[in-house]
Amino acid sequence: MAEPDDLEEAAAPLLVVEDLDVGYATSHVLDGVSLTIGVGESLGILGRNGMGKTTLVRALMGLKPPTVTAGSVRFDGRDILGLAPHRVAALGLGLVPQGRQVWGSLTVRENLRIIPARRAEPGEEPWTIDRVFDFFPRLAERERSFARTLSGGEQQMLAIGRALMTNPRLLVMDEPSEGLAPAVLRVIRDRLQELRALGLSVLVAEQNVDLALALSDRIAILGEHGTVAWEGPSRRLVADPAPIHAHLGL
Ligand SMILES: Nc1ncnc2c1ncn2[C@@H]1O[C@H](COP(=O)(O)OP(=O)(O)O)[C@@H](O)[C@H]1O
Ligand SMILES: [Mg+2]
Repeated sequence: MAEPDDLEEAAAPLLVVEDLDVGYATSHVLDGVSLTIGVGESLGILGRNGMGKTTLVRALMGLKPPTVTAGSVRFDGRDILGLAPHRVAALGLGLVPQGRQVWGSLTVRENLRIIPARRAEPGEEPWTIDRVFDFFPRLAERERSFARTLSGGEQQMLAIGRALMTNPRLLVMDEPSEGLAPAVLRVIRDRLQELRALGLSVLVAEQNVDLALALSDRIAILGEHGTVAWEGPSRRLVADPAPIHAHLGL
């Protein structure tokens, strides 16, 4: 049943996922997943380990495996299913992958430089290396270091900076909190909240409930059966965390 909360936000849809089935040769993972992210909105995807968060993110980005067997993904009105990852990125989906996956044998600056950038929209301030360095001063200090020598937190900053360099319209992050100590996680959370305040649309897959709630207008919880087990405004989960206990076993 729709609650008043669900009806109040009517941002133009940016990403519309309908009835998506996704799996691997040996297993079916997502079953009929539907999600919408409006322009300027942030959606958190919560789910225990193995529930299919990364599978969903990879499917949206055009990365293989997995394989999408049914459903549709539209971005800004355009069908993006089946496009190669570089085409998806060129349309404005910027990925911060799970495990960061920075290029270890390149320097910080090189990691930021070799990214093909989408042209910023009129009125959008384009991301440059200097702007990334202003945003994460720690990266400026390490600009000549090989990425493999960075701490986990610095690598996460670099992975976020690299995604920003594409001037994304939707920032897609897969477990940005993974393996980070609380102090550095707070730094990254504050920076991500700043991006939200700038109006950037965000999809963030997380197991860290606090981070997902801090960053997201709405939450979708992936459950046991590869379906969306709960969806609604973050503030409803804050007021009543029962779905978190039920579906995340916390
Ligand atoms: N490359 C793969 N081949 C086969 N199965 C996979 C592969 N990657 C993930 N899986 C399976 O898909 C399911 C969902 O995994 P994943 O999307 O990584 O979950 P999450 O990101 O929520 O932890 C798990 O059962 C996992 O074992
Ligand atoms: Mg994952």
